[in-house]
Amino acid sequence: MADYFYVTTPIYYVNAVPHLGTFYTTTVADAFARYHRARRHETFFLTGTDEHGQKIERIAREQNLSPKDYCDGIVAKFKDVWREAGISYDRFIRTTDPDHRAAVEAMWQRMLATGDIYKADYDGMYCVGCEGWKTEEDVVEEGGVKICPIHRKPVERVREENYFFRLSRYADKLLALYEQPGFIRPETRKNEVTEFVRSGLKDLSISRATVKWGIPVPNDPGHVIYVWLDALTNYVSALGGPDKIASDARAQALWGACTHLIAKDILRFHAVYWPAFLMSAGLPPPKGVLCHGYITVRGQKISKSMPATRVDPHLIASSIGADPLRYFVLREYTLGNDGDFSYEALFQRYESDLGNDLGNLVNRTISMARQLGETLDAPHREGYSAGDPLSEEELVLRQCAQEMTAAAAKAWDDMQPSRALEATWIMIRAGNVYLDRTAPWKLKKAGHVAELREVLAGTCELIRRAAQMVAPAMPEASREILRQIGREQDFGLWPSEQWGGWPGGKLVEPKPIFPRIDPDRQKELIAAWLDQTPPPKAVTAGDAGAVAEIAIEDFARIDLRSAKVLAAEAVPKTDKLLKLTLDLGSEQRTVISGIAGAYAPADLVGRTVLYLANLKPAKIRGVISQGMILAAGGDKLSLCTFDREVFPGTKVK
Ligand code: MSP
Repeated sequence: MADYFYVTTPIYYVNAVPHLGTFYTTTVADAFARYHRARRHETFFLTGTDEHGQKIERIAREQNLSPKDYCDGIVAKFKDVWREAGISYDRFIRTTDPDHRAAVEAMWQRMLATGDIYKADYDGMYCVGCEGWKTEEDVVEEGGVKICPIHRKPVERVREENYFFRLSRYADKLLALYEQPGFIRPETRKNEVTEFVRSGLKDLSISRATVKWGIPVPNDPGHVIYVWLDALTNYVSALGGPDKIASDARAQALWGACTHLIAKDILRFHAVYWPAFLMSAGLPPPKGVLCHGYITVRGQKISKSMPATRVDPHLIASSIGADPLRYFVLREYTLGNDGDFSYEALFQRYESDLGNDLGNLVNRTISMARQLGETLDAPHREGYSAGDPLSEEELVLRQCAQEMTAAAAKAWDDMQPSRALEATWIMIRAGNVYLDRTAPWKLKKAGHVAELREVLAGTCELIRRAAQMVAPAMPEASREILRQIGREQDFGLWPSEQWGGWPGGKLVEPKPIFPRIDPDRQKELIAAWLDQTPPPKAVTAGDAGAVAEIAIEDFARIDLRSAKVLAAEAVPKTDKLLKLTLDLGSEQRTVISGIAGAYAPADLVGRTVLYLANLKPAKIRGVISQGMILAAGGDKLSLCTFDREVFPGTKVK
């Protein structure tokens, strides 16, 4: 029987374009899928977008778009970023896809037929950010307001007639499921979920009457199906829906081999609600749920309102390639634990693991070998048979390669990417040690050409194996290395544990796979990445009017100063703008300001105002406007001034 492997990522909300967190989950899933394809397992890799629900309905409305048009725009961005990042999904599913809708309807009908769905009045709290119902234990109270601690936003009171799911029926069955080894990984997460179920399960509201953007409840179109029941079903929609899983052998085999890769934020939905929905629908559970940790940026949670935590995978990939970032996240973090990201750590691994270890091994080997000719044949020493090691050094190299190939395979099988790459790099470093010990440059000088060929053939064989083993993490680099050693046909295969020997290949002009990035250039890149990372266009519903918290370091990036208005004049052909000349103590600045409706030019001259000095200059009506003066209010603006005399240019803190 074929080995099956099915991996899913969460389907992402379309309120944000990909960021480092979603890049992480998707890259990990991609690496698993690539590894299993290389092992010739029947593999299916699913990712996609979660498009329905109140959050998206509101954002689309705020942007004056139909929800579907809004989603189409974000989905196109997701697909672009995933293409650039080398994400080899077998299907990108959208909850607006017609086959998904049919699958959700079928799930509903099956759960209804079991007698697990009933109608009742709901009166409770809902967090639109989570798209989740909240109990008193789930919220915190601040100043008399109940807040969702995850989104730091007030929860909303919902009173409507809803359909409910008899979740409370499934507690024992769920607890039994958690006892299946590996159903929830890691163990700590299993304990957390077990505790939650033991503490008592209440029935769950699974429809909304006041939300329109969703899949209507069959035969009751006044309600839409709760967005999490809709979203979770995507995992079976992609195999043909619940009926197919119940009847088709291949769909069943893949489903039984399915691992949901998620982060801890959505564990309860995947480990409690989802298996209970499946049980109710008469379907088996997936193989398991693998819960990874959270990536923070410089110790802070990735958040839309914190510019310093915005790490844009697209910006990084477009300047240094996607592979180094893929490698970094797979190697740096132990799957399951939280981890911190910094650009400095990324460059450090780039330089040491990629440039010095792997890049250098490939480059120097090919350069030396090409001095002997374009083609490096399989070794053919008199009396040599493929199984014989050529020297003590080669014996050590072979053993290391065999052991590390097995160790890496085991780690990939166990879903431990960091370990798999660690083993791979032990082997790559052994390749460099082998070259240092056998010193082919000395063999060349001494005219020992046959031995020299053998040493280089051994190294090329190691490189071939290394290229195949890095492929789950760095598909492009793998392909390029194999191209340079003339073994393109070996791409996408996992090497056999046994050392087969170099089969020969035509070596092409080596090109650095990971060109050196000197420290000044690194700094430039980091500055550009920080500067250009756009604040996500989409906003979370509920953001309107509310301003998120910032850290004091964020405030420190704002250069606020006092400035004295030296001159003011109307800007021609507009009744809104004034051109101001400001005294900043050490220099003068020109600012175009939209306060003509509230102040005449003469009212302003001589006043000391509050001035944002480090705003990027902009050309307005042909004039370069440097910074901005601050005012408050609606139609009639009120200028921010000082109530005591301060010198122009004084820092405001
Ligand atoms: N739409 C739901 C999922 C439905 S699945 C049936 C959702 N979407 S989400 O866009 O909020 O994605 C959450 C997931 O994104 C996390 O579970 C995780 O996979 C990934 N991550 C988001 N931020 C992350 C980090 N800071 N670190 C690691 N993973 C992160 O929830």
